[in-house]
Amino acid sequence: MTQESAPFWDALHAYRKKAVVPFHTPGHKLNAGLFPRLEAVLGSGFFSLDPSDQVEDPETSNDFEQVLRVAEGLAAELFGAKNTLFSVNGTTGGLHYLLMPVTGTLLVPRFSHQAVYSAMILGEAKAVYLPASYDPDWFVPLQLQGDQIEQALIQCQAEALVLTHPTYYGTAANVRDIVKRAKSHGSLVIADEAHGGHFLFSDKLPGTALECGADAVVQSTHKTLGSFTQTSMLHFNNEAWYRKAVQAQRALQTTSPSMVFFAALDEVRRVLASQGRDMVGRALELAGECRRKLSELKGVELLPSHLQADPMKIVFSLRDLGLTGIEVERLLRMDYNVQVELSDYYSVLALISMGDTKDSVERLVEAVADLSKRRHQLGLAPLKRYAMKVPALPPIVFGLRQAFFRKQTTTPLSRAEGKISGGFLTPYPPGVPVIAPGERFTAEVIEYLFWCHSINWPVRGLMPEQKVVILEDN
Ligand SMILES: Cc1ncc(COP(=O)(O)O)c(C=O)c1O
Repeated sequence: MTQESAPFWDALHAYRKKAVVPFHTPGHKLNAGLFPRLEAVLGSGFFSLDPSDQVEDPETSNDFEQVLRVAEGLAAELFGAKNTLFSVNGTTGGLHYLLMPVTGTLLVPRFSHQAVYSAMILGEAKAVYLPASYDPDWFVPLQLQGDQIEQALIQCQAEALVLTHPTYYGTAANVRDIVKRAKSHGSLVIADEAHGGHFLFSDKLPGTALECGADAVVQSTHKTLGSFTQTSMLHFNNEAWYRKAVQAQRALQTTSPSMVFFAALDEVRRVLASQGRDMVGRALELAGECRRKLSELKGVELLPSHLQADPMKIVFSLRDLGLTGIEVERLLRMDYNVQVELSDYYSVLALISMGDTKDSVERLVEAVADLSKRRHQLGLAPLKRYAMKVPALPPIVFGLRQAFFRKQTTTPLSRAEGKISGGFLTPYPPGVPVIAPGERFTAEVIEYLFWCHSINWPVRGLMPEQKVVILEDN
């Protein structure tokens, strides 16, 4: 089979074309007619491609799992992996499948996505955290340094290290160096490449974690490669870990995965195989153009290139014009009908991808140009800049899994010192937990959370009246 074929898409399509009389789930019976409003927008196609587990493929006696393995094999070939798994539960699910089998120490950068934390609730891994550090001027989490990881590896004999490559903001570490060091200490390397699926398709982008020697990676195909939301791919260099991940997927995945999602991943892979480099190349040109035009606008500052390995993430700030990123996001949406990916105190992040056009990029540039002109006319003071003093990681009393289901109560944050947290408290974005379940509140942590609150930096997990969840058996 070649990259020009899409076996899963074809087999699902063939089932539709055959018009089999369906005495099977789902209850809509492949017919949109029951739901005219859904039909009007989605068309009948989505329903007709939605049998719960049927395809038409005589060679495999219509076994969708066998066809799926063939489709995953083609994806493995394209992405340079020994094996690939499709995920219908995004990279969140993928991280669970990859990390649930870890039974020893897992080295976890504190800025890891929440799915890494929830994997430790599902499995037995014991976390050793690597503290996050931030660029003082932008509050963007900095990538890990090889020396920092090596020190931790010497101290804790980790079974595995999980890396985020790149971060949400497009910052990337020297993954090749990190993988080399981890391997020399006998540690597996698992990469959360949710935002890095497109790296394979351009030499102007950082290498993929798999190319750099990682054992396994998971990519949100839906984020940067255009597939449907919820669809991701896991790629493996390490067959033993692939087998473990398959076991974990069997335990965690729905028994009714969407055939449409699998077919979409297969078809997207077919198109990427022939056109991926062109598509990503065009998107890079658009991103370059967007960055150039924004940099010419008065009062608009762009995240410096040493913090940004992925140029598709356009991170910019209007702080000199007195606006927080959160306000810029709101104004772009309300006044210009433009929605960015995220915003924080200083900046907003606009994602350019292969789905963009000259026009869409122009809309963003025009909106920011008009906004900056309006703000100049108001002549307001620049936004206050803060020196951020990130607290040390709090002491761990219980591991995440131990802490998660213990009895909980709440207390005002002001009285939490010495108590054990029952939840995560996470300034978002960038989403780095200041404290996690099972960790003890320190005065420093409390002071920092009050500071975040005072500058209107949303803190996930902080309840009304500034209460926090703590464990009852404190
Ligand atoms: C770094 C990172 N990892 C993992 C995820 C989860 O990905 P998904 O939405 O595909 O479940 C995200 C989502 O935003 C993310 O930013």
